[in-house]
Amino acid sequence: MTRGNLIVSLDLGSSKVAVIAGEVGQDEHIHVVGFGSVPSTGIRKGNIIDIENTVRAIEAAVEQAEQMSGRQIEGGYVGITGLLVSSLNNRGVVAVASPDQEITQEDVDRVLQAARVIALPPDRKIIHVIPRQYFVDGNENILDPVGMVGSRLEVETHIVTINNATLQNVIKCCERAGFHPWEIVVNGYASGEAVLFPAEKELGAVVVDIGGGTTDIALFDQGTLWYTAVLPVGGDYITSDLAVGLRTPLNQAEIIKKEHGGTIPALTSDSEFVDVPSVGGRETFRVSKKVVASIIEPRVQEILSLVKNKLDSSGYTGLLPGGIVLTGGTALTNGIAELAVDLLQKPVRVGYPEGIAGLADVVNSPEYATGVGLLLYGVRRQQAMQENEDGFFVKNIFSRIKKWFQDLF
Ligand SMILES: Nc1ncnc2c1ncn2[C@@H]1O[C@H](COP(=O)(O)OP(=O)(O)OP(=O)(O)O)[C@@H](O)[C@H]1O
Ligand SMILES: [Mg+2]
Repeated sequence: MTRGNLIVSLDLGSSKVAVIAGEVGQDEHIHVVGFGSVPSTGIRKGNIIDIENTVRAIEAAVEQAEQMSGRQIEGGYVGITGLLVSSLNNRGVVAVASPDQEITQEDVDRVLQAARVIALPPDRKIIHVIPRQYFVDGNENILDPVGMVGSRLEVETHIVTINNATLQNVIKCCERAGFHPWEIVVNGYASGEAVLFPAEKELGAVVVDIGGGTTDIALFDQGTLWYTAVLPVGGDYITSDLAVGLRTPLNQAEIIKKEHGGTIPALTSDSEFVDVPSVGGRETFRVSKKVVASIIEPRVQEILSLVKNKLDSSGYTGLLPGGIVLTGGTALTNGIAELAVDLLQKPVRVGYPEGIAGLADVVNSPEYATGVGLLLYGVRRQQAMQENEDGFFVKNIFSRIKKWFQDLF
């Protein structure tokens, strides 16, 4: 059982580096037992630009989480994002091996292996091969073929790849901070785990995680990941627009955005004012909240239109009845869901991390969707591994992790 084992996530964000440690309690629910979050200065648009600062941030976040939990943290599940993440779809096909034609887990492993065989440039590595659906003798929409009878097993997969240097930098920073990356998971996938309800994933829904430097998009359908994309835009642009538009330092623009920002000037008062310190701090002047919203609105519209373009070009033709779930820190901007309904013409809500029982309040913000999602992913992975080979928890986990790394290189 996973109970008692510490499962840890590391979100290397452009705004903050966050560590969440959790365990499965006696009640079978996932409890957060440790949490650390420190501002991130070594990561821009999801890419590591300063190894030293990133290592220090990981160490500091880990230390906070260790102090809170009273447990030692050795490693965990690490999120990855940035422009150098990309995705494609591929199919694999094998003949069913057993003479009675009953499909086994080995057949499934072989067909997934066959789907991995793609011509990739030498500088790219595969981080996920996610089955969208299986086909048994041409019958489609099969989610778990094990135990079925057939002669030909096919799989359609969604494959996420990453630039090797980016991956190496993430692994290097983690290792130097004494944090062993157990698996690398694309951020959008993780955020979807935390904020989408199973019914939404089943029907077709998209999570849009708008952070500081990146926007991670993940489309789920029939319960699994169907499409992923990363855009190099996020809330940092809104902050710098406000700094330029209001002629105020970036740190002041950030405060004004969080405390007084809205996205819909027409619904914002022009008789409520905000004090804006000038650059150099010599004087303070006042602007109406309507003016603040009129600076924020076009940038949020731009980010959402880029999301729309990505979805339009994803090849997905379903109607997305589960709608769009906005998360990440920028989803806290007032009025963003209303603006997104107009632009995307789908049901939209703001997603907070779900699925955590104990101490859920410490991570109860869209900013921690990726971190909580990585934790949920980790719990699910470890439980799946244990179901396969119960009784050898530690040996099993480490041999699986070793296999994962071997697959990677
Ligand atoms: N109340 C708020 N209103 C508007 N924006 C907010 C609010 N709170 C946080 N933000 C913005 O959210 C962004 C940070 O979000 P988040 O923590 O999800 O980013 P990150 O994961 O560190 O970065 P990324 O995912 O882009 O690498 C910042 O731009 C911050 O200004
Ligand atoms: Mg993020």
